[in-house]
This record gives sequence, structure tokens and C-alpha cells, in this order.
Amino acid sequence: SNDPIPKDSPLDHTMNLMREGYEFLSHRMERFQTDLFETRVMGQKVLCIRGAEAVKLFYDPERFKRHRATPKRIQKSLFGENAIQTMDDKAHLHRKQLFLSMMKPEDEQELARLTHETWRRVAEGWKKSRPIVLFDEAKRVLCQVACEWAEVPLKSTEIDRRAEDFHAMVDAFGAVGPRHWRGRKGRRRTERWIQSIIHQVRTGSLQAREGSPLYKVSYHRELNGKLLDERMAAIELINVLRPIVAIATFISFAAIALQEHPEWQERLKNGSNEEFHMFVQEVRRYYPFAPLIGAKVRKSFTWKGVRFKKGRLVFLDMYGTNHDPKLWDEPDAFRPERFQERKDSLYDFIPQGGGDPTKGHRCPGEGITVEVMKTTMDFLVNDIDYDVPDQDISYSLSRMPTRPESGYIMANIERKY
Ligand code: HEM
Repeated sequence: SNDPIPKDSPLDHTMNLMREGYEFLSHRMERFQTDLFETRVMGQKVLCIRGAEAVKLFYDPERFKRHRATPKRIQKSLFGENAIQTMDDKAHLHRKQLFLSMMKPEDEQELARLTHETWRRVAEGWKKSRPIVLFDEAKRVLCQVACEWAEVPLKSTEIDRRAEDFHAMVDAFGAVGPRHWRGRKGRRRTERWIQSIIHQVRTGSLQAREGSPLYKVSYHRELNGKLLDERMAAIELINVLRPIVAIATFISFAAIALQEHPEWQERLKNGSNEEFHMFVQEVRRYYPFAPLIGAKVRKSFTWKGVRFKKGRLVFLDMYGTNHDPKLWDEPDAFRPERFQERKDSLYDFIPQGGGDPTKGHRCPGEGITVEVMKTTMDFLVNDIDYDVPDQDISYSLSRMPTRPESGYIMANIERKY
């Protein structure tokens, strides 16, 4: 074609995507000096875009749809099959209301309160002589917090297993082989567990408090007036629990940021809400978590002289947009101050997607993520003292998702409360 668009070599680049990970898209954008290029992944042509204008385009529901945009292997591990992430139009917005109804400011505050309380309680059981791995502790703390807030019963003997299963679903998204299969297995086991709880609620053998997330999902009605089938209700409740556990990844990165920026350890000692906010926002921008997101062209259009043909798969480069030199001064420097003066925009800071969350697919859990991270930073800085033994805190940009190699080991922990 005559499209003025740089094209990757004509081979399939799925293996390169797996190998280059978070930088697969930006490597090519840099090589071609562009924010828009074409490649081939998973046996099909893919248009790849980054930057604020691209985000605005990508989140225009007239132009893109999600149906059939996510490979089944990701639905069977990370998302759950045919869940909210794959829906469009009225049905999507209606399902989205269910999620938004559970993520109001009072839910954020309640989750933050529970998170702080749980960290303090768990830390009372730590022995000074025994180092802990922050990432592993965070998964377990957040699993308890998520279930307690959602009012999903969780026995203390199940915490480890359930936390690991939630983690396995997330850990599978960029994997092939055993890591992928662990994610599927974790999902199957979690769906069975949550489905049986929904069944107990609906048959009256488990009492769900009206207004609790468990109740809301159990009794949510579709546009046709019907309840979700039990499996779909389980999948959507898991779409609330799992990502809360996933905040453990950002927490382990935040601990590295603290270590590497001692001036921020000082600033956060009795820091203001604004200082916690700036720090946490920069952690979400700087460190890699969600690499990219896919959608399909709803009906053909032309953008910047390039034909976006109906049905074409398009990748939005999330990690690359958060590190785009056109949007961020010194994008590869960790500088929370950048969030001090910054005017909020729906289209440039996209660690959890872009656009208006009430109108499109942007993550409804950003407020929860931020509040849970802030209260965890407060715990790390103001509630305990600890040493950081020698360890490998590097993280690979080719593993998706990634995290600090050591999980962040802390030793000689002393409580100050
Ligand atoms: C969607 C990232 C935390 C619930 C998303 C999307 C991303 C994302 C990239 C897709 C956006 C799109 O499709 O355009 C993250 C990250 C988190 C996080 C990195 C940090 C751990 C949360 C939390 C919750 C949550 C705490 C709920 C408690 C959801 C739901 C969707 C979603 C329900 C689907 C929204 C839709 O399709 O309309 N998230 N998220 N996420 N997230 Fe999050």
C-alpha cells in the first residue's frame, strides 16, 4: 500500500514481543522515529500507536471495539472469559456501572484503612531476626484486605493459596509454558471457589450484607433484567479481588524508589497527603506494569494519513506513553515533583489506561490503587524501621509482568507503634 507508515520486517514478531517485552514497541518507534508503525504479531497485522493523541483516538468508542481484541489465552488466565474487558457499547457501560458502584471514594478510604490496619497486625507477627520479602507479604496482606472489604469469607488457612492464585493469574499474562499454565490453574481454582460463594449467597446459605461488593455482584442485573450466570458473577468478582492483590507489584517498586531516593524517605516522614500522592503517581508512571492494550478498528477510518481498516488490531503503547519524551521531561528520571504542578489529563498519564473511566475501558480502580499505595508507604516510612540487606533489586524489562528480582527483602524490622 502507499500508506506513509513505517513497517516492521514482514515476519511475525510475536517472539520478539515476548523477548523485548515492555520495550518492544518503543524500540521500533525509536528506530523508525515515529509514533505509529505497523508490525505482525500473533499471525496478523497490528498498527502500533503511542502518545497523547493516540490515547485520545484509542479511547474513542466510535472508532474501536474490544470484542475479539484479547486473545483467549489471556482471557483464560488474566481476565476471565467474556468479562467486562471484552464488552462494548451499552452492555459494557452497564457492566461498568457495577464496578464503579464498588469504587467510590468511601470504598477507597475503607480499603486504605483496612490496608493500614492489616499491615500493622501482620507486622506484629514478624520476628526481628527473620527477614521478610515485601512482595510476598504484600500479596498476602492485600488478599486479606480485598476479601474483607468485599465481604468474601476467607479462612486464615487459605490466605497463602488464594493470594498465590490471584498472583498467578496476573503473572501469566506475558508468559508461555509453565508460568502461563499456573495462571490458568489459579484461575480455574479461584473461579470454583468464588462461584460456590455466589451460589451460597443466592441460595441463602451465606448471608451477604446489602451494599457489600459480594452482594452487588451476586444480585447485579443485566440490561435484560437477568442475573449474571454464576460463573460470570464469579469472574467479575475476581476482576475486583485480583487487581487489588496486584497492587503488590507497585508496592515492591515503591520500596525500591524509597531506597534509591533517600530524600523522599525524609519527605514522607510525616509527609503531607500531597507528598504521598506525588510519590505514588511517579511510581505508577516510572515503573513498568501494564505494557500495552489492544483493540480492533470498528469501522475503517484514516488518521494522520494512515488507513485504519475495519477489524485491524491496534496496540496502544502504555509503557511508552508514560515514558514519551514529548510528554515528560527526562522521562527516565524518577521525579515525583513533576506531579506537583501537573494539570490532570485523561490522555497522557496512562498506567491503568486512558480516557474517562465512566465512558470507556479505563481502569475503575485507580483511586483504590493510589490510596492503598499511599497508606502502605506511610506504614513503611512511619510505622517501621528496617535494613535492606544486599540483594538483586533489578527488574527485567523483557519479562511481562516484571518485578524486582529479590521481591525486596527487608531485615531487622522494628516497629515504632
Ligand atoms: C482495567 C491496570 C488496579 C479493576 C484495567 C486496564 C488496565 C489496568 C491497563 C485496562 C484499561 C483498558 O482496557 O483500556 C491496572 C493496574 C492496577 C490496577 C496496573 C494496579 C494494580 C485495579 C484495581 C481494580 C481494578 C485495584 C479494582 C479494585 C479493573 C477493572 C477493569 C480494569 C474492573 C476493566 C475495566 C473495563 O473494561 O471497563 N486496569 N489496574 N484495577 N481494572 Fe485495573
